[in-house]
Amino acid sequence: MALSDFNPIDPETLECPYPFYAELHAEAPVYQAPELGVAIVSSYDLLQEVVHDPETYSSAMAVGSAALPGRAKAEPDEEIVELRRTFGRASVPTLLAADPPYHRRYRSLVDKALAPRRIMGMESYVREIVTELIDAFIDEGRVNFTKQFADELPMAVIADQIGVPRSELKEFKRRADFAIGGLERKIAPDEERAILKAGIELQEFFLERAEERRRNPQDDILTTLATAALETDDGSRPLNDAEILSILQQLQVAGKETTAHLIGSAMLLLVENPSQLAAVQADPSLIGNMAEEALRVESPVRALFRTTTRPVTLGGVELDAGTPLMLLYAAANRDECTFADAAQFDVSRENAPRHVAFSAGPHYCIGAALARLEIRVAFEEVLSRMTSFHLDPAYPTPSHVPSFILRGLNDLHITFDRT
Ligand code: HEM
Repeated sequence: MALSDFNPIDPETLECPYPFYAELHAEAPVYQAPELGVAIVSSYDLLQEVVHDPETYSSAMAVGSAALPGRAKAEPDEEIVELRRTFGRASVPTLLAADPPYHRRYRSLVDKALAPRRIMGMESYVREIVTELIDAFIDEGRVNFTKQFADELPMAVIADQIGVPRSELKEFKRRADFAIGGLERKIAPDEERAILKAGIELQEFFLERAEERRRNPQDDILTTLATAALETDDGSRPLNDAEILSILQQLQVAGKETTAHLIGSAMLLLVENPSQLAAVQADPSLIGNMAEEALRVESPVRALFRTTTRPVTLGGVELDAGTPLMLLYAAANRDECTFADAAQFDVSRENAPRHVAFSAGPHYCIGAALARLEIRVAFEEVLSRMTSFHLDPAYPTPSHVPSFILRGLNDLHITFDRT
């Protein structure tokens, strides 16, 4: 199939994008996709060049895929305009969509809360959550691994960190899932109204909690943000409500969906590759590298965006100022020039940690240490307590969420034995 025969966002390509990625590598590492109006960057080296040069490649539209088909919403009525305005108060560029020098100022605040040393101290707490989740299904011998495990762990961890009490976790999850439900598809006005209302309720909830933390500080990210001093040109000041909401919303969305998707995808990779599963079972010290390899092979963030700030030539392709770029991390991670036999899931692959699943440069994933901790502990417990994993024949073949930004399984029904 030629490159022009692929539509990058049709359901078939989204379900199995790898032939498309291979064609991109072979024909056009920087590909001006006619259906999308963006230039797709799939080469590992060129993607690295882009993410390390924020002056030329702005993040202002990092998730702003508004130009892509499917996101256009119906003509808004007055109520929707007002709801959008209220919800939009959090649309200040702080992390993902911020450029230098402002990005560094916000980033240094959040870095403190997610620093690897602080995260290392969370191991036994993460293990407790993992143990409770496994206890709840281990006697059954079968589980929907995504819904009952992979989705639940990052949700519980990030909710704790951003101030959601355990007793309110279910309701928080319902609202949070609902609030991001309309991100990548056309939605009717009634649905948009409901989604915006759920999002605004979450924002109110966060602001109340931030106020509480100012009065009663705790050891969590919310306290760090609520009491932070932001460096400015003339000194420093506390973060305002819009900035706190912007950061919390990003942590909530980026922190749970991505990690959940990776845990689900890694489990499926192990089930589908028995020799690799056996290798990790025989030597659990491989779990860390298995996680890196799963991040490479099934990158949970397929793509994010940049915009050129000046005319530039990238990989021999001339791009005008203002050109939107889709950075296809998932394709770069299968670039044969960097990863030999790139389609192969090899838990012992030496250069697996060179993947760009967490990106690189100034926007390198701020939650990488936390994600790695959750994934490692999850598989240490799963593989020590269970064995003989198989897809549950009572259910259809697992399928992926139809997103061009995220890659993850809808459901993963498996059977297993206790060890
Ligand atoms: C397997 C799990 C994860 C993956 C694959 C992932 C992937 C990414 C990627 C690709 C970026 C780079 C964005 C860019 O280049 O523009 C990023 C940034 C970010 N991630 Fe993650 N992430 C994961 C887990 C997390 C977690 C657990 C958190 C929060 C606790 C988090 C919060 C963020 C935030 C706030 C940013 C923006 C950083 C900045 O722009 O400075 N992520 N992530």
